[in-house]
This record gives sequence, C-alpha cells and structure tokens, in this order.
Amino acid sequence: MSSIDTQDLALTEWHARYEAIDPASALQGSAAGKVVFITGASQGIGLATAVAFAQAGAKAVYLTARSQRALEAACDRIRRTNPNTQCAYSPCNVTSAEQVEAAVADCVKKFGGIDVADANAGRLGPWAKIGESDPASWWHTWEVNLRGAYHVIRFTMAHLIESARRWAAQGSSGGHLILVSSVGAQLLMPTASDYQTSKHAINRLCEFVQVDHGQDGIKCFSVGPGGVATDLARNMPEDYYHYLTDTPELPAGFIVWLASGKADWARGRYLSANWDVEELISLKEKILRDDLLVNRLRTRS
Ligand SMILES: NC(=O)c1ccc[n+]([C@@H]2O[C@H](COP(=O)([O-])OP(=O)(O)OC[C@H]3O[C@@H](n4cnc5c(N)ncnc54)[C@H](OP(=O)(O)O)[C@@H]3O)[C@@H](O)[C@H]2O)c1
Repeated sequence: MSSIDTQDLALTEWHARYEAIDPASALQGSAAGKVVFITGASQGIGLATAVAFAQAGAKAVYLTARSQRALEAACDRIRRTNPNTQCAYSPCNVTSAEQVEAAVADCVKKFGGIDVADANAGRLGPWAKIGESDPASWWHTWEVNLRGAYHVIRFTMAHLIESARRWAAQGSSGGHLILVSSVGAQLLMPTASDYQTSKHAINRLCEFVQVDHGQDGIKCFSVGPGGVATDLARNMPEDYYHYLTDTPELPAGFIVWLASGKADWARGRYLSANWDVEELISLKEKILRDDLLVNRLRTRS
C-alpha cells in the first residue's frame, strides 16, 4: 500500500492530551495576547483547537465555517471556556477568495491583527477508483483542501508577518501558520486519490511558505492531526474506522504547542500530533541535519 513505515518517526505515540501539550496546565498562558484565526472551527478538530487556544489564554479566537448556527454555538463554548478570550465568527466558504479575504479583514478589524492562522477546514468525499470517480467531487476535494488552505495563507500572510515582527521585538515568537494535513498525505490507499493527493500537496505548500516567507519570520507547519472520529473522518469506508482512536483535544493541544514557539526550529515540515513532543525535540539535530519530514523524490532504496 505504501512505505509509510519509513515515513514515520519511531516515537511514543499519544492518542489523547498529555501534560506537555495541555493548554490548561503546561501551556497555560502561552497564547496570551494572541489572536487566532481558524477555518472549519464550527466542530471537530477546529472547534477543539479554538477551545484549546482559549484555555491557553488567547486574547481572541476568530472562527469560520459555512454554518452560522454552529459558529454561534462554538463562540458560546469559547466564552464559557474562558470569558477573557474574545470570540467572533463569520460564515465563510474557504473555496471563495472573496469570503476568506473578508473574514480575515473582519478579524483584523475586530482584534487588531492575526498571530496564528489555522487552515483546518477540509473535505473527505466519497472514495472511488480514479477511473470511476465523479469528476466534480474529485476536484471539489482539492478546492476545499488545497485552494482553501492557499486562501488562508494568501490573506493572513501580511498579518502573520506583522505578528512575527512584533513578537520578535519582544524576544518572543509570533507569525505561526498551521496547515492541517493528514497521515494520508504520505499514504497510497486505493480509492483515496483526491484526498490523499490534496494533503500531500499541502505538505509541499508548507515547504513553499517557508521558502517564500521564512525570512519574514513565518513559522509554517503541516500537521497530521491523528485519527479522530469526526463527521469528516466517518466518510471513510467503515473498514478504516478502527484508525479513529484519537481525541480532538490531542491535535488541538499539539497545535497550541506549535504556536507557543517551542518547535519553531521544525518550521516548514510535516509533524504528527501523535508524536511525543519531548522525544520530537530530542531529534531536532537529526531532523535538521538530514532534512527529514519533507516531501522528496526517492531515487534509491
Ligand atoms: N478526523 C480525522 O481523523 C482527520 C485525519 C486527518 C486529517 N484531518 C483533517 O482535519 C481537518 C478538520 O477535520 P475534522 O475531522 O475536524 O472534520 P469535521 O468535524 O467534519 O469538521 C470540518 C470543518 O470544516 C468545515 N468546512 C467543511 N467544508 C468547508 C468549506 N468549504 N468552507 C469552510 N469550512 C468548511 C466544517 O464546517 P461547515 O460544514 O459548517 O462549513 C467543519 O467546521 C480537515 O482538514 C481534515 O482533512 C482529520
């Protein structure tokens, strides 16, 4: 099916939140003063991430998705989680450049900037062999997953650069950009070509963000959130449901950890939320020396 065994790090794997990535304890206060913009924040991993940033003391979270009612409920949850974290939302389809641009502008108008952008909205459509797939559905997956992430990058970039400069001037870290990817990015599962190629492209896009904007202080990460039993994940064939063993709080805490600046050295790379973060840090030298966790063409075994 694939050579995934050679594309993973042999680290302790977590399936639920643990101390080092807990926004309510180890990461308490790490998001203080920060404004977080999240797409696909009405439910699932995106909502858990918004809640986690509120637990970590964010100044504000700005939530987008298509469903207004779900966004309202999500903002209520943020206010209950931390009354000191401001919350605003706007309905926004990530496939529309105009809508993403308007949501970003509204966030900046309300909260004064963006310190963390999380391109989380995603689509997993019906699985089919390429030669039997529905052309509109196949391409729609790319539109949501890749074009949507591109729009978030494109319209938040200037604000993230400003954030990186501001926080660096205070001896701290800002300008974090999270692209939610998938373990599927490196897999070759039959009938999953639309989703898995779109996530593979996201990993590469993350590398390009770093090439184009690393010198501007941007820290971009492509994040595999694990396997979480969300509406999206349950669109997989039932045979794969046994992979859905992770809580949404695991990737949420991992993303807060990334935005805290503790892994800025790993920018431009794919990281899995399942990996133990202390063990990941212990591999820093090797990862940088061997340029690991990036998309490359294999030319020898
Ligand atoms: N769950 C997993 O095991 C897993 C594994 C690997 C990767 N991921 C990735 O994790 C991310 C979050 O997924 P999830 O599992 O949390 O799924 P989910 O619970 O179904 O949430 C998906 C979110 O994306 C929003 N969304 C969908 N299409 C959109 C569009 N065109 N424009 C704007 N928002 C849109 C949805 O809200 P509306 O419908 O209201 O727009 C919802 O808020 C996705 O990128 C997914 O590929 C998940």
